Parts: sequence; C-alpha cells; structure tokens
Amino acid sequence: MTLAAAPNIASGQGAPPPRHVAIIMDGNGRWAKRRLLPRIAGHKKGVEAAKAVARAAGDLGVEVLTLYAFSTENWRRPADEVSDLMGLLRHFIEHDVKELQQHGVRLKIIGDYQTLQPDLVDLIDRAVEDTASNTRTTLVIALNYGSQAEIARAAQSLAADVRQGILDVNAIDAAALEARLYTADIPPPDLIIRTSGEQRLSNFLMWQAAYAELMFVDTLWPDFGKSHLAEALNVYAARERRFGGL
Ligand code: IPE
Ligand code: IPE
Ligand code: MG
Repeated sequence: MTLAAAPNIASGQGAPPPRHVAIIMDGNGRWAKRRLLPRIAGHKKGVEAAKAVARAAGDLGVEVLTLYAFSTENWRRPADEVSDLMGLLRHFIEHDVKELQQHGVRLKIIGDYQTLQPDLVDLIDRAVEDTASNTRTTLVIALNYGSQAEIARAAQSLAADVRQGILDVNAIDAAALEARLYTADIPPPDLIIRTSGEQRLSNFLMWQAAYAELMFVDTLWPDFGKSHLAEALNVYAARERRFGGL
C-alpha cells in the first residue's frame, strides 16, 4: 500500500504524507529492565525494530527515515554499554545493510562518525557507497550526532570562508547555515517521533525541527513496528501545518 491510499489522506484532509520521518529510538534499557534482562538485550531488540521500521518506511511511502542511534552525549554511558552499542552498529553495517540494499534503501550518516574506530568508519563508508544509487528510501542514521555540535561546525565552516575572503558576512543567512548542516541534501523532518514516553529532543535535529510535527508515544522502542509507524502517519495526516501562515 502506498501512503496515498491511506484513508485520511484520500479524504483530502490535513497534511500531505510526510516525506521525512525522524525517530528518537528510546526505551531499549527499560524494555530490558522489565524483563530482568541486561540492557544490551534491549539494544539488540532495538536493532531488530530499526530494521523492521526501515523496511516499513518504504512500504508506507516515506522517502527519508532518520533514526537517532547514538548521541554526542551517549559517551557519558558506562564504557561497557558504549562498546556494546558500537558492536551492534558494526554488526548492523556488516550484515544488515545488504538486506536493506535489496529493499532499495540508500544509507546516509549524519554526525561525527569519522572519529569512531577506523575500521568501523571504513565499513560505514563502504556501506554508504554501496547503497548510493538506491532511490526507494533514504535511511539516515544519526551517529555520534548532536545538534549543537552540528550547528557549531556549520558556523565554523562559514567563519573559515569569511576569513579566506570567499564569503561575505552579510551573505550568512538561514539558508547559508542550513547548507552546511549534515542534512543539507535532504528535506527537513516533517514528523519527529520519540518513543518510551519521554518528551524532549535530546539534542536531535534542533535546527531542522523548526516546523516538524512532534509525536511522543509510550511504546518502548523494541516494541515499535510497522503498525506503530502506520498509526503515527495516520495521526500526522490529521494535523494541520501552518508554517506561520494562516
Ligand atoms: C535508546 O534506548 C538507545 C540509545 C540511546 C542508544 P536507551 O538505552 O536510552 O533506553 P532507556 O532510556 O534507558 O530505557
Ligand atoms: C536520545 O536518547 C539519544 C538516542 C536515542 C540515540 P537518550 O536516552 O540518550 O536521551 P536522554 O538522555 O534520556 O535525554
Ligand atoms: Mg533513553
């Protein structure tokens, strides 16, 4: 089913289908805790959920799906957990990207991933390259990502050009800054979903979220699946977006 066939949209009401859905995948630890399992078990199940949702995004007509996988603040977690998360990421890139490849998924990374272990960086670069010509869905993984660092980096790059004399200070406007964000080549998120009941952005796409619809759901990320995404798209379809106009 394409999203255009969804009932709320066919009725012509509300917003057109979201081109870009971004998800703050939260609640892996609590999912595990409820089952008296180690946190890593929640993260493992979380990867399964991410794969299912990435496949579903294409089926539901979403062009771009961004998943927040590791924040610049997540380094504050115990070293064991950070290392488990990196291990899962490595496994995902090595084994699962091939399957996504068959579903026409193009992989893109946002965040300072180049500071991760060099062999992991190579694996990521290869996966991005291998999927570069896919057109069905773009799966954006936010990795070692933080909005504040992203905006500071964009400001630095603008300042460097001003110092070199190739950019006029007066030419620095919102579009000029936006063009230097990691997301320069993708549309801004139409819908940001956070799972697990927490209601905050945690340094995620703060610039890009300017006019995003926000949705906070109680489902813990490992339990989130295609039906939850479809439901979120239905709720979104009934929202009225005004962008400051009437
Ligand atoms: C989200 O689940 C995964 C990452 C942040 C990497 P959490 O690990 O934050 O799960 P909770 O919030 O402790 O339940
Ligand atoms: C946000 O979740 C980061 C990711 C989902 C990768 P956190 O669990 O790290 O957020 P806080 O610390 O509860 O705000
Ligand atoms: Mg959390």
